[in-house]
Amino acid sequence: MTSPVRLALLGCGTVGSDVVRLLHEQSADLAARIGAPLEIAGIAVRRVGRDRGDLPVDPALFTTDPLGLIKRDDVDIVVEVVGGIEPARSWLVEALRAGKSVVTANKALLAEDGAALHDAAAEGGADLYYEASVAGAIPLLRPLRESLHGDRINRVTGIVNGTTNFILSAMDATGAGFAEALEEATELGYAEADPTADVEGFDAAAKAAILASLAFHTRVTAADVHREGITAVTAADVASARAMGCTIKLLCIAARNTDPAGRESVSVRVHPAMIPLTHPLAGVGDAFNAVFVEAEAAGQLMFYGRGAGGAPTASAVLGDVVAVARNRLAGVHAASESAYADLAVRPMGEALTRYHISLDVADRPGVLEAVAGVFARQEVSIATVRQSPAGGGPAGRGSDAELVIVTHVAPDAALAATVRELRGLEIVRSVTSVLRVEGGA
Ligand code: NDP
Ligand code: HSE
Repeated sequence: MTSPVRLALLGCGTVGSDVVRLLHEQSADLAARIGAPLEIAGIAVRRVGRDRGDLPVDPALFTTDPLGLIKRDDVDIVVEVVGGIEPARSWLVEALRAGKSVVTANKALLAEDGAALHDAAAEGGADLYYEASVAGAIPLLRPLRESLHGDRINRVTGIVNGTTNFILSAMDATGAGFAEALEEATELGYAEADPTADVEGFDAAAKAAILASLAFHTRVTAADVHREGITAVTAADVASARAMGCTIKLLCIAARNTDPAGRESVSVRVHPAMIPLTHPLAGVGDAFNAVFVEAEAAGQLMFYGRGAGGAPTASAVLGDVVAVARNRLAGVHAASESAYADLAVRPMGEALTRYHISLDVADRPGVLEAVAGVFARQEVSIATVRQSPAGGGPAGRGSDAELVIVTHVAPDAALAATVRELRGLEIVRSVTSVLRVEGGA
């Protein structure tokens, strides 16, 4: 058999230790698929002495010198499962420029400065694969960058964060509030000790940037993504969604827009939204991920599976390792980054969205007219209005009423201005809930 393909593994935590396990358990099959055995040349970690249980690996392979490991002549492929921007970026740029293929799960780095990695890969004539960076085990990036390359993608809508999907699913199933559901997610090991990146939408925004870049052949960074997390979603919002035949999900939405003059742009956003229970993403519960792709010729496609966890993520990493190892043996590398379209990224204010607004108002003559006047001034068209006695009590002169208004599609800036103006009306006691609506509810 051909001489081994040698890997430098950077990181041996949740994902890295499962990469080691799978490499060990599947070694014969992997060698047969590649045409050469895979060997670990070394494993860079922060603490060599850390207890790693019964990991099937020679302890002598561990090192605290990632750069030294990357530079070794006997290393062909660098697998990075450390995370963070620096020093990971410097390590991977060094490897790629030296012509070593890179497999990484580092969504934060790809979304912050994917350009540095792609440029280094082009310079070194090396492969850069990152299937595990979005939606864990789900084969998604390869279909976008290969299978769908003959098509034109118009929209990608996804649930790409398992922790927040678990929290929102629990709130929907039990009526729990955000804090209670987060506590459950933490107890079950879904949410990290510091859940900020997940619940504030940073993790989903990084994934949205990667998806949009691939779908629209345009460099999109995390800074281009409008981001809102789920911390403000209340049990009342969830109940209100239910009453409308909807559920609330943290969505990443990347869409191609065409203006009346035919100019194209993209908008990329992450925020909680109400979707109808009939929408394909509505049934995605627990910590699962799913991504719904709409393409011109292919139509609608749905990708579903486990978006996190050691073994599912390691599966995606290993798939990439097999691909780049085969390329090395064949003396080729994959097509480089496709960013030729270079579309402008629109600000959130220009994105076309719909709002669901709940108001606590005085129940007296002229109230509906005043409220409707605000929408008219902002050129936002109302789709439905429902009025009921606030708190379920009797309606009538002097008491409060709840108004639930769903709009037609309008620029987000106009919808936000409508809400601001409503808050200033004397007859509006409070704006109790504002949620975007997606998917035709
Ligand atoms: P962990 O925190 O579990 O593991 C990180 C590893 O990196 C540890 O082995 C740690 O060493 C090592 N490390 C940290 N800093 C350094 C350093 N300066 N030099 C050398 N080694 C270092 O992370 P995960 O395995 O959860 O995540 C890894 C990557 O995979 C991240 O980019 C993450 O976003 C991504 N990812 C993770 C998923 C998941 O479900 N966990 C899902 C999809 C992607 P030591 O062991 O000594 O502490
Ligand atoms: N924290 C992430 C999630 C891990 O909950 O989906 C996978 O990227």
